[in-house]
Amino acid sequence: MTDFASLLAADRGQKTRAIHVVDKGSFAAWLKKRPADDRALLEAQRFDGKTAFDFTLLPRGAEFEVVSAVKDAAKLSAWCLAKLAERLPEGTYKLAAGEPGAAALGWLLGQYRFDAYRSAREEPERGARILLTGEPARIDPALRLAEATALVRDLVNTPAADLGPAELEQAVRAVATETGAHVRVTAGEKLTDGFPLIAAVGAGATEARAPRLIELEWGKREDPLVAVIGKGVCFDTGGLDLKPASGMRIMKKDMGGAAHALALAWLIIGERLPVRLHLLIPAVENAVSGSAYRPGDVLRSRKGLCVEVDNTDAEGRLVLADALARASEDKPELIVDFATLTGAARVALGPDLPAMFANDDELAQSIESAARETDDPVWRMPLWDAYDDDLKSSIADLSNMANNPMAGCIYAALFLRRFVGADISWAHLDTWAWRDPAKPGRPKGGDALGLRAIFAMVQSRYLQR
Ligand code: BES
Ligand code: ZN
Ligand code: ZN
Repeated sequence: MTDFASLLAADRGQKTRAIHVVDKGSFAAWLKKRPADDRALLEAQRFDGKTAFDFTLLPRGAEFEVVSAVKDAAKLSAWCLAKLAERLPEGTYKLAAGEPGAAALGWLLGQYRFDAYRSAREEPERGARILLTGEPARIDPALRLAEATALVRDLVNTPAADLGPAELEQAVRAVATETGAHVRVTAGEKLTDGFPLIAAVGAGATEARAPRLIELEWGKREDPLVAVIGKGVCFDTGGLDLKPASGMRIMKKDMGGAAHALALAWLIIGERLPVRLHLLIPAVENAVSGSAYRPGDVLRSRKGLCVEVDNTDAEGRLVLADALARASEDKPELIVDFATLTGAARVALGPDLPAMFANDDELAQSIESAARETDDPVWRMPLWDAYDDDLKSSIADLSNMANNPMAGCIYAALFLRRFVGADISWAHLDTWAWRDPAKPGRPKGGDALGLRAIFAMVQSRYLQR
């Protein structure tokens, strides 16, 4: 794992290379004040400060300074220094003016690597690129967010063969050991009896990859109860309604919701927020075998509602339904779930934007404002009541899919809503947990999308009280 702790340091007058940050508006005035050599060099390269992420080096004898174009030099975004962190040579750097602020995160994540499966490096290992800041108090929060993001990325990037339900359980246990939280795992007959949807979806997997509900609890009895749920489908073949090759190719990431939920729990505990945390991860493999659940099966859920399986590829909502029902039994003040739930959310919003659903307008607004503050965008989608009827089944209480090819992510969210207890504020993030194409600080592969937004919402909700 990338050692982020050494990459940000307090400014104690160490020898550094300066980074000049410019934008479209400020470039001309900045250029005027530069030495003639700099001006000539920048002009020769046609560096005009207009294209965000463009950067170039200004020689200083055997050393150099850096000039980097960003969108808004007065308010640095989380990612505006990420490309520098990726590309610059080993060394210690410092902004020529101002403080990195939010951009410290991108500086760290620009140095994230997932090389557990590389025996030989394509390029020689690059040494640490260290950024100095005059605001040492901001180092720790940035580090925590980078580490939480790396946890999501590592878990998602790990191939399904090496990350089944048992390994996901180990990942939760590792967080519990680190933080002093309590873990409970339900499997086998107890799962079949208590969480029949989770058991049914996982029934097709081999014994070594048996389904389970992983729960983690932390906090004081008297603090408000917050439930965090993550879809932990360690591999989604689609089940008997098998996915085509192209659709199955990246389905190792179908536990991305669980990775987000675990990372959020780690952040909440690390911050010692005054909440009682209940993390629930239904961990399964949606496999194909003689014991796999079938289209047309009717499953009685934990809540008692009978669900007809219209399509075994709509498995995420099934395992989440039992987890939502369990979480609701304790009447939490808030439930948040993360899930790589539908392709439809990606069709609607593309790779960058998790679809956010909430049954509470105030909660939705606080998530939207937290998303803006943290450069971690989400987009609210409607729980459109009039569509709810389309989830009906001809023989059971409801079907796991609407007989309608449109609005897939809304139907999935409406299905989940049926299992959320009355009067509980609930937000659901239909996220991709994946990055493709790459962006600065965000290589192709597993990624956290919506994690920082939700953490910031939880912080503002419970720290102000
Ligand atoms: N894990 C997939 C959703 C998914 C697919 C997320 C591609 C990101 C990228 C989920 O289990 C699924 O297969 N959903 C189906 C639902 C359909 C059968 C109602 C889908 O979205 O096609
Ligand atoms: Zn599926
Ligand atoms: Zn899935």
